[in-house]
Amino acid sequence: MTYERDIIRRMAGYVPGEQPSNADVIKLNTNENPWPPSPRVMQALTTISAEALRRYPSPGATAVMEEAATLHGVDHDQLVATNGGDELLRLAITTFVPPGQPIGIAEPSYSLYPVLAAIHDSPVHRVALDSDWSPPADFAAAMNDAGVPLTLLVNPHAPSGHLLDADTISALAGDLQGVLLVDEAYVDFADPDHDVTALVHRHDNLMILRTLSKGYSLAGLRLGYGIGPAGLIQPIATKTRDSYSVDAVADHLGAAALADQSSARASWRAVRDERDRLTQALRDAGFTVPDSQANFCLASVPEGAAASAAQLYAALKDQGILVRHFDTPRLRDDLRISIGTPAQNDALLAALLPML
Ligand SMILES: Cc1ncc(COP(=O)(O)O)c(C=O)c1O
Repeated sequence: MTYERDIIRRMAGYVPGEQPSNADVIKLNTNENPWPPSPRVMQALTTISAEALRRYPSPGATAVMEEAATLHGVDHDQLVATNGGDELLRLAITTFVPPGQPIGIAEPSYSLYPVLAAIHDSPVHRVALDSDWSPPADFAAAMNDAGVPLTLLVNPHAPSGHLLDADTISALAGDLQGVLLVDEAYVDFADPDHDVTALVHRHDNLMILRTLSKGYSLAGLRLGYGIGPAGLIQPIATKTRDSYSVDAVADHLGAAALADQSSARASWRAVRDERDRLTQALRDAGFTVPDSQANFCLASVPEGAAASAAQLYAALKDQGILVRHFDTPRLRDDLRISIGTPAQNDALLAALLPML
């Protein structure tokens, strides 16, 4: 006897990267920022009052959204705070996709998307990315032909780190008949002059996902938000989201994090420097590594190497170094490596290169 909906019984759940309890493990598998959060966040943590915990939090997470409005130059009705970026993905599906209608994704991309689609009882319309990880010229047409009401596009792309520029995003939004959600989980690590937020004033179907998990070193806090035209944001903010999905601690600490841009930016610069160094070292060793604008890189194991990507993943794990391996057709020969501190990256290279 099972009480699950049929679709839930048949689907496979999302498999998150391992989170070992052993602090000695070098964790380069879930794209966390290797640097600590701003000292102002840690200071703010000491000022949480018992009264703030006794009461329900602000339903709109007004402290952190106030900072976000200033940071992005948007109005309050163009922002919605969520329990991590993942909750925004789920809410976008709930709000814009009639159950059973297709959700559009580029293939490959974030492996949570098909799981959320399955829960919603929606098929996934997949369009394969070109060899350079950009969408093919007929991407929007393919989504329109399939009647897709919501397309999820991660930029910088995961797992390659490839970045589409603002003109490309704008053209896609213009061509798509449904909503385009640009998942910018990793955008903080991209070139500082890359910015697509202004596009939400020009396209009524374009919404942006942001998270504090990566750029602000707060994956443990669970805080993200959406930026978009009020016509997309308000149905989520006032109807489909839970009243209190962002708690008082997240609101308070998130505001402190966004207010301290100089600390966050210093960590982004450090990640970029290490990303370039690691990429070069991997290329010198024979790996193919596309240019990444994220806090990870995707390394294809050289042909003729003594071990496959799956074997390298397992051998690194034995040595206490976690990276990510996806056993899917396009990614089977690759390792996705989160950018660590200089010492962590050196340890990875010292372990990996002799195995080739
Ligand atoms: C592509 C992508 N989008 C969104 C998220 C959501 O992150 P969070 O829920 O931690 O904000 C992640 C997390 O790994 C991600 O990789």
